Amino acid sequence: MKLHTQESLENWLDEHLESPLDGQGKYWFPLTLPTYGKEEIAAAVATMCDYRTSMGTLTRMFERQFAAYVGAHDAVMVNSGSSADLLLAFQLINPNHPRLQPGDEVLVPAVTWPTQVWSPLMAGLQVKLVDVDPSTLNVDLDDLRRRITPRTKCLFAVHLMGNPCEMDELLQVCQEYGLLLIEDCCESLGARYGDRHVGTFGLGGSFSFFFSHHMTTMEGGMVTCQSEEDADAIRVLRAHGWTRGINNQASVSSLGQGLDERFRFINWGFNVRPTELQAAFGIEQLKKLDAMSMRRTELAERFYQFVDSSPYLRRFDTPAAGTASPFALVVRLCGDAATERSALLASLDRAGVETRPIVTGNFARQPAAKLLGEINPADYPGAEAVHEDGFYVGLSPMFDDLIVERLIRTLEQSLNETVTKPRLRRAS
Ligand SMILES: Cc1ncc(COP(=O)(O)O)c(C=O)c1O
Repeated sequence: MKLHTQESLENWLDEHLESPLDGQGKYWFPLTLPTYGKEEIAAAVATMCDYRTSMGTLTRMFERQFAAYVGAHDAVMVNSGSSADLLLAFQLINPNHPRLQPGDEVLVPAVTWPTQVWSPLMAGLQVKLVDVDPSTLNVDLDDLRRRITPRTKCLFAVHLMGNPCEMDELLQVCQEYGLLLIEDCCESLGARYGDRHVGTFGLGGSFSFFFSHHMTTMEGGMVTCQSEEDADAIRVLRAHGWTRGINNQASVSSLGQGLDERFRFINWGFNVRPTELQAAFGIEQLKKLDAMSMRRTELAERFYQFVDSSPYLRRFDTPAAGTASPFALVVRLCGDAATERSALLASLDRAGVETRPIVTGNFARQPAAKLLGEINPADYPGAEAVHEDGFYVGLSPMFDDLIVERLIRTLEQSLNETVTKPRLRRAS
């Protein structure tokens, strides 16, 4: 059978595609469920049927659509959120127009994904962790002020778990101390502060399209930026240091004599390009993003109603001007439950609910944190609190109402088993 068009592929998939609910592993409440369907698969396969798989017009189209979605000047697609972080960091020290010097200090919150920490470090910058406020999971503004020194030049903020940072105050601190701001939005696509999306406040933002994120390209990521110069410079870093694919060709046309312009290298660079398969997939996912995010929000609201009614659970706070874009169902244990995290997670696991710590917990506790120099986890009490009493369970727009009700009942039961009953036994 010869399959040429996206439409004929979709028709074929109508008959052959299994339900995303089939083939789940040991958990009835998994971290996530596949959110893609025949449209994404057909679009990705169509690029192979056309023999157009290397980065090209679909990638550019997706970049433009994504930039318009978040309200950024432009966007540059890459092969992962980690690569987006890496390019943002290397843009800070870009040899063609460095904003920072080797050894300048970049502040990164102590609860985040490791590649956000490594990116500035690998770019030759000094990374200093800053504590988080356990009530928001994001950077603690008092600790931020305390840790700023004359060598501090940049804040690499993260909007964790879909919760936007308190941007007015963060921008105020950056302005007061002359810090550059870059934003890791890998867990926060769609989160807003005021009427602006995260990823549009600083020099640039990073986004991840990994499987469990707000939208997926299987693996993939995006850098948003606010000027043509930055977008072009990041495109050069993305692919070999060459100028192919940049917007403003006139800006580089005089560089290098007698060169084949297809092979004009003006900088160092990586190869962190996405494929057209991923871009085609992403274009289809983007069409579904609003509906998926709305469903995430609906399910999260129901879950947090229960959290609010429990003496043992609390949720994170969102800034008054912020709108969260729920990434997962995140809780912190409180009261008598605060010290029972391990027992509770074991009970949930036995009951078929997949759980996760809040990203890395206190990053200062990770063995690899030694790469940042002498570091004492106790210097980050906010991150310690999140480490000790926080966890999350998954959230997928594919979950139905019943599964969330069952999750709530199971969580109630597990709390009863691990906190309420033992407490009553101790008291009697
Ligand atoms: C906050 C944060 N930054 C960066 C990343 C890296 O994204 P990726 O997994 O696409 O490399 C993640 C991944 O989940 C993340 O949560």
